[in-house]
Amino acid sequence: MSSSGFRIAVAAVCAGFSLWAMEAAAGPPEVAQVKSRQDKFRDMGGALKAIVDELRKQTVDWDNIVAPNAQTIKDRSGYLINWFPKGTGPEGGVKTHALPAIWQTNDDFVRLGKTAEAEAVKLNQAALGKDRNALRAQAEAMSKACKACHDSYRSPERDNDE
Ligand code: HEC
Repeated sequence: MSSSGFRIAVAAVCAGFSLWAMEAAAGPPEVAQVKSRQDKFRDMGGALKAIVDELRKQTVDWDNIVAPNAQTIKDRSGYLINWFPKGTGPEGGVKTHALPAIWQTNDDFVRLGKTAEAEAVKLNQAALGKDRNALRAQAEAMSKACKACHDSYRSPERDNDE
């Protein structure tokens, strides 16, 4: 992938969604769970973007930028498959981009989550290794693992795609 193509791909993975007004149909526990996982995903997107942006600079700040952001992605990736209890899909009327397929083909969803977790462990190792090329390659592998899940299990962005 060309470096500009890579940046666009990462930007697409990292893009957050604008906040929706909460709706009453789903109960408060489901609404809170969905909001909390969306916040955590947004942090992960911000962390990956921070690493990629840092790699474009003359001098990479390994200790203050790369390491903490890689740690955030690693920590969150270890849990993300648990953020989808039954009842937190769109069927309850809660505003979410999670697709019903998450619960229909859950083995595959879990597999993609574990793949992302493994890539996040490697990303953290590359961050600690302080090798620019290794980190760049691993940031690319990471964003592909994020995207692989989004392609099947996250509905496309609709509210701010202008
Ligand atoms: C196993 C599946 C899976 C993996 C892996 C995954 N995501 Fe997601 N992601 C989702 C789903 C599903 C949603 C929609 C959640 C919702 O709307 O309730 C989402 C939402 C998001 C959002 C939007 C949050 C918001 O509502 O503002 C961002 C940003 C995001 N993910 C970034 C990432 C990044 C970065 C990675 C990799 C480091 C990643 N995701 C890995 C499934 C995944």
